[in-house]
Amino acid sequence: MANHPGSAANARVHHFKLVLLGDTAVGKSCLVVRFVRDEFFEFQEPTIGAAFLTQTVQLDDATVKFEIWDTAGQERYRSLAPMYYRGASAAIVVYDITNPDSFTGAKSWVKELQRRGDPNVVIALAGNKADLETRRAVEFEEANAYAQENGILHLETSAKNANNVKSLFIEIAKTLPKNAPQPEKEAFPILQQQQETRNCC
Ligand code: GTP
Ligand code: MG
Repeated sequence: MANHPGSAANARVHHFKLVLLGDTAVGKSCLVVRFVRDEFFEFQEPTIGAAFLTQTVQLDDATVKFEIWDTAGQERYRSLAPMYYRGASAAIVVYDITNPDSFTGAKSWVKELQRRGDPNVVIALAGNKADLETRRAVEFEEANAYAQENGILHLETSAKNANNVKSLFIEIAKTLPKNAPQPEKEAFPILQQQQETRNCC
């Protein structure tokens, strides 16, 4: 069947590089695996270097394809991070609502992105493991106030029960400017690349 000009099928696909940053074990990989494959693993292996996955989001008026770099939060990989956030249009900075140190870590990632990331980078702060309410150690209001002060998005998510995971990516997709030039391919890191099958489950 022929597509009509202006129909969703004919709409241009907007490609955006998105990076996930945050301390180890906050659930970055689980969030991505939930978003891309709608799966969850209780025993997710720590990421080595970084993992690359893609996923498309359909908005009312645009199609957004995320090219996702899921970075490794272990300290020994920290120096690699600029390679992944360089040229990124969007960043999800993840903390674990049961771990206050991870919120401190998230704030330092936000600061680093604001100083050294793309000037127009869209930043979303994700308080993950929201299913563990009884073990909560970071109040929603505190993180939300911090996000508002810094002009960034904030959501609490659960990769485990899928709550707010798709919404997180949709909110970012809506916020991204659709008329901006597409990221240059050479901005993508060439080291430590891993295909999704190698490190994601
Ligand atoms: P690095 O790759 O080392 O940076 O860690 P990461 O941030 O990618 O964490 P990962 O996704 O590997 O998750 C760490 C652990 O937290 C895993 O055992 C998951 O099962 C668990 N986990 C992740 N998300 C959630 C969640 O939303 N709720 C609960 N209860 N556990 C979660
Ligand atoms: Mg990981």
